[in-house]
Amino acid sequence: MKIIEAKNIEYAYPDKTMGIKNFTLNIEEYERVVLLGSNGCGKSTLLKIFAGLIKPTSGNIKIFEKDITKGNYLYFRKNIGFLFQNPDDFLFNPTVEDELLYTPMQLGISNKEAKALISKNANYFGIKKLYEKPPFRLSGGEKKRVALACVLQLNPKLLILDEPTSNIDGKTRKRILEFLDEYKGTMIVSTHEIDFVKKISNKVVLLSPKKDVLKVGGIELLEDTKYLEIAEII
Ligand SMILES: Nc1ncnc2c1ncn2[C@@H]1O[C@H](COP(=O)(O)OP(=O)(O)OP(=O)(O)O)[C@@H](O)[C@H]1O
Ligand SMILES: [Mg+2]
Repeated sequence: MKIIEAKNIEYAYPDKTMGIKNFTLNIEEYERVVLLGSNGCGKSTLLKIFAGLIKPTSGNIKIFEKDITKGNYLYFRKNIGFLFQNPDDFLFNPTVEDELLYTPMQLGISNKEAKALISKNANYFGIKKLYEKPPFRLSGGEKKRVALACVLQLNPKLLILDEPTSNIDGKTRKRILEFLDEYKGTMIVSTHEIDFVKKISNKVVLLSPKKDVLKVGGIELLEDTKYLEIAEII
């Protein structure tokens, strides 16, 4: 199955800022994509499009061979795990435990099963002690851990993580890398950490306005289009 087919997509924000320009990319099932690029180059915009949360203002995109339409919204929500760069965009329940339970319950899992399901990831990310707290009172790194646990617990077919390790301590960073290393589905991860390329990816996408061949972390990236340089690394 093709996971993402994006052809000449562009996205302009309501104030006319170009979030992403003339971008083309295909992602096949089980590919592990690391998305690199400088601040403001459009990584978060692109990931929101890939998650079906916003629709390109021009060009064509298919996600799981489906168009971004209202009718497909639930299908995308069930099959795509999306971590926002800013956890405040995601966390809204009264307590951390409610936050963790929210999606499994929405998907019809019983309360008892949902509690068992969240417990594993809560232990893994060391957030059980935060269960009773309101998410807005957490530290930046704690919020990120809660948001990650929420996203990862359902083992989505497509995992999209926007800078999962920003604001994160070394121990949690190691856990995230371990998790991603073992993760079996398709994933797209944006980051400024160059060692992610070698540790977890088999494809690199670099958003860059330059036309040159670039070297990232010792790996040569080939020129493709003006805004995209891709290399398959083996
Ligand atoms: N809601 C918005 N309204 C208007 N412009 C926006 C909005 N969100 C982002 N932008 C602009 O769109 C462009 C791309 O932003 P985006 O957040 O996708 O970049 P990014 O690559 O994720 O950056 P970073 O590495 O800092 O996270 C930037 O010029 C940004 O200022
Ligand atoms: Mg971003």
